Amino acid sequence: MSVPAFRIAVLISGSGSNLQAIMDATATGSISGEIEQVLSNRPDAGGLKRARQAGIPAEVIDHRHFDTREAYDEALGQRLTALRPDLIVLAGFMRILTDPLVRTFAGQMINIHPSLLPAYRGLHTHARALAAGERQHGCSVHYVIPELDAGPVIAQAPVTIKPDDTPASLQTRVQAMEHTLYPQVVSWIADGRVSLHDDQVWMDGQPISRPPRITAETEH
Ligand code: GRF
Repeated sequence: MSVPAFRIAVLISGSGSNLQAIMDATATGSISGEIEQVLSNRPDAGGLKRARQAGIPAEVIDHRHFDTREAYDEALGQRLTALRPDLIVLAGFMRILTDPLVRTFAGQMINIHPSLLPAYRGLHTHARALAAGERQHGCSVHYVIPELDAGPVIAQAPVTIKPDDTPASLQTRVQAMEHTLYPQVVSWIADGRVSLHDDQVWMDGQPISRPPRITAETEH
C-alpha cells in the first residue's frame, strides 16, 4: 500500500511568487508532498493563475463578502477543515487571523515574514530596516500563533544590506531568499524533521535553541 501524500494548502493574497517556489519544489520532488488547494481572499491575486496553470485547484473566498473578520475566518476555517491539510502555508496571505482560526490549526500553520524576527514585525520591513541603518536584513519562516509575526521561528535567511540599497532593491534580494527558504522549511515539515511541541520548534528529534540560518552563495 502506498503512503498517503503529505497534503498542503497554500493561502495567498497576491502575486504568489512564494507559492510558485513551493509548487516548483513539489513538482521536482524536493518537497515530498502535494499542494491540494490554493485559497485566496482576493479574486485578483496573481497566484491564482499560477496555480491553475499548474493544474492545482484554486479558489477565492472573498473577504469583502463577509461582514466581520470573525465571519470570514469561520468560513475559511470550515473550508480548511474540510480539506484536512497536513500543513497550511501562508504565502503572502495579507490578513490578520482571529484567535479561534489560529488555535484550530495550531502547529499546522506556517508563515513567511520579510525580516529576521523578532526584529521588524508588521509591514514595511525593508524601509524600516534601511532607516534604522541595519547591516543585515532577511526573512523568517515561523509557526503562526495569535500574536502577529510572533510565533516560534523555524528557520531564517539573512541578506546583507548594501550601501546603495533602496526598499525595492532590498525587497528583491530578500524575496529571492524567501523562494529558497520557504520550500526548504516545507520539505523539512513534510519529511517529519520539523514540528512544534509546547510552543517549541523541534528539529531532528531535538528542540532547537536558535533557528537554523540558510545562506545563498552570494551571501558567503
Ligand atoms: C512576501 O514577500 C512575503 O514576505 C510577504 O508577502 C510577500 C508575498 O509575495 N509575507 P508573493 O505573493 O509570494 O510573491
